[in-house]
Order: sequence, then structure tokens, then C-alpha cells
Amino acid sequence: MTASKDWKEIIAQGEEERYAKYAKIFSILQKTKSKEFGNGRALHRKQILGLKTKLEIFENIPEHAKAGIFKTAKTFDGVVRLSNGGLEVASDSKPDIRGFSIRLNVEGDGALGDKTTAQCFLMINQETFSTADSEGFVNFVGAAAGGGKSLLKYLVKTHGVFGLFGQILKMKNTFGRPFSGFATEKFSTVLPISCGEYACKARVVPSPTEKKNPSAKNDFSKDIKDKILDHNIEFDFELQFFVDDVSTPIEKANVEWSEKKSPFIKVGKLTLLKDEVESETFQKSIEANVFDPWASLMEHKPLGDVMRARKVVYFQSYKNRSK
Ligand code: HEM
Repeated sequence: MTASKDWKEIIAQGEEERYAKYAKIFSILQKTKSKEFGNGRALHRKQILGLKTKLEIFENIPEHAKAGIFKTAKTFDGVVRLSNGGLEVASDSKPDIRGFSIRLNVEGDGALGDKTTAQCFLMINQETFSTADSEGFVNFVGAAAGGGKSLLKYLVKTHGVFGLFGQILKMKNTFGRPFSGFATEKFSTVLPISCGEYACKARVVPSPTEKKNPSAKNDFSKDIKDKILDHNIEFDFELQFFVDDVSTPIEKANVEWSEKKSPFIKVGKLTLLKDEVESETFQKSIEANVFDPWASLMEHKPLGDVMRARKVVYFQSYKNRSK
């Protein structure tokens, strides 16, 4: 099927108040955890490593992909923050979602209506989001933070006693998915952004020549440092386009986009660089930096309810941690 411009977002009534409520919930969780671990992010608190990066955009890519940073063959400099997804600073060997955030230096009209100097792509080691909408995610995180009993109560309330075991299995497959290290896994934006008049998701795919290290999970940062001091780490940068509401829905965040109906296309190469990887000052600057899907060009505006909720929650988390 061909990429289509026929996508649309569905804006619900009262979203602004609901998202403001989410920001308050995450602020409470963030403040509680900051007492334990020091000032930090509400989610993805544990930084694995900050890195310099460059993204080279290829010349021969399909016409519908040629918008925003993909308009012409060009190389963008930037930085990357690798993280564990949890609210806590936990051992790398614990099951978790893993974050791969890219911030590129650009100049242009921003998604928030002003000028921007950043194009961010926030990616995780999953293909889909854990819940269909933002409300489901906020309730889930709130229940999980309350511990075993509160999570169980929430799961029974949401999925019923019969749906409970299926849901626990799904969670086990999501959080407990084997993870070989940040140089040898795929990472996806999971949710769509616009690409000019079209809509797409983005992902990075590791080089097949990059070897897996069986002891990486003892210390993911060391694994990357060992590799990068030896060679640059490369990923293909790929886009998957919206074709129709059933195969590639904009608003149902937990539905995987069909690769059969809309195959990924390679549009560039992302290289992680060793420059400054051992500098404490650089690592601190990455921890203090902003990685936000809304730090973006207007041509790559984040789409859908979950993305709109993130606009409010990430800004509040940033304000809390930069106090
Ligand atoms: C309603 C849904 C979501 C909420 C409420 C939420 C909340 C948050 C918050 C509060 C932060 C910390 C922000 C900061 O202080 O800079 C964060 C970071 C992050 N989130 Fe989300 N998130 C959501 C959905 C997602 C999704 C769908 C992805 C998939 C790509 C994702 C990936 C990340 C990553 C990679 C980071 C780390 C950014 C960094 O390295 O600074 N999040 N999230």
C-alpha cells in the first residue's frame, strides 16, 4: 500500500484538564523518588550513557519521505541519552523498558508554534505502547508505583478476573523481554509524528555486524563504552508511513502498525561517536538536557492522544528536575 495523507487526530473534550492532572500525578511520584535518589526525571530516571551522534540522511529516498530533516541529503549533529525506563535507579539486570533518545541540532519552525533548534526522537525497545491511551498509562504507572497489591487491584478493575492472567503475561513479555544491550537492539518511536503532509513512525536498527555481549546486562554503560572506544556504533534509520486507519492507526497506541501493509524504508544512518564519552561534564550536560518529542520541527509534529499528554507531563518533569 502507498503512504497516505488521509490521517487525522481525534481531540477529545477536556483533554487539557486531564493532561494537567497527569502532570500533577507524575510530579508527586517524581518528588517522592527524588527524595530517595536525588533530583531526576519522573520516568527514565537512570541515565545509562550520554553520547555524541550524527545522522546522515540519504539522497535516494521516496518522495513522500522528503520533508523536515529528510528533505535533502544532509548530516545532522546531535546527542543521545540511553536510559532505563523506571521511576527508580535500579540494577541494569532488572526487567525494564530501555530508552534511546536522540536530539539533533536543527533550525526552523517548531511543533510548539515558536522557533526550534532541536529535533528529538524518543525511542524505546518496543514496537507498540503498553496501553491504548494516555489515561490507561497514567493509571498503570500510578498503580505500579504503589506496589504489588495496588497493581493487582488495578489490573482486576481494568481487565476483570478472567483477563488478569493474559494481562500479567503481556506485561511479562513487555518488561521482561530479553535485552542484549543498547548497540544490538532495535528502538522505535512507537507513536507517530508527521512527516510534512504524511505521518510516520521512526526506528533505529543495529548493524548486523555488531556482536552481542552475554555479560552486557551487568553494566550496559560499560558494554557501550567498551564497544565505542573500539569502533563507531551504527544503526539504520528507518521510517514507516501511515497507510490507513486500520493497518496504521494514529490514536490506538497499543496497536502495532502492520509491516506487511507498510514496510519500513531506510532513510539514513545514525552513528554513535566516542567523543567526550568519558567526560563527566558531558555526561552531566546530557542528564540536564531536554529530550522531548515536542522539541521538534513543525514538519515532524507528534501525533495522537498519548503524544499530546506527553507535551504537558514532560515539561512539568523538566521544570521539577531543573529546580
Ligand atoms: C502518556 C504517556 C507517557 C508519559 C506520561 C510519559 C512520561 C515521561 C516522563 C515524565 C519522562 C521524563 C521527562 C523529563 O524529565 O525530561 C519521560 C521520559 C521518557 N519517555 Fe515517556 N511517557 C509517556 C510515553 C512514552 C512513550 C510512548 C515513549 C516511547 C518512545 C516514551 C519514551 C520515553 C523516553 C525514551 C524517555 C527518556 C527521555 C530522556 O532520555 O530524557 N514515553 N516519559
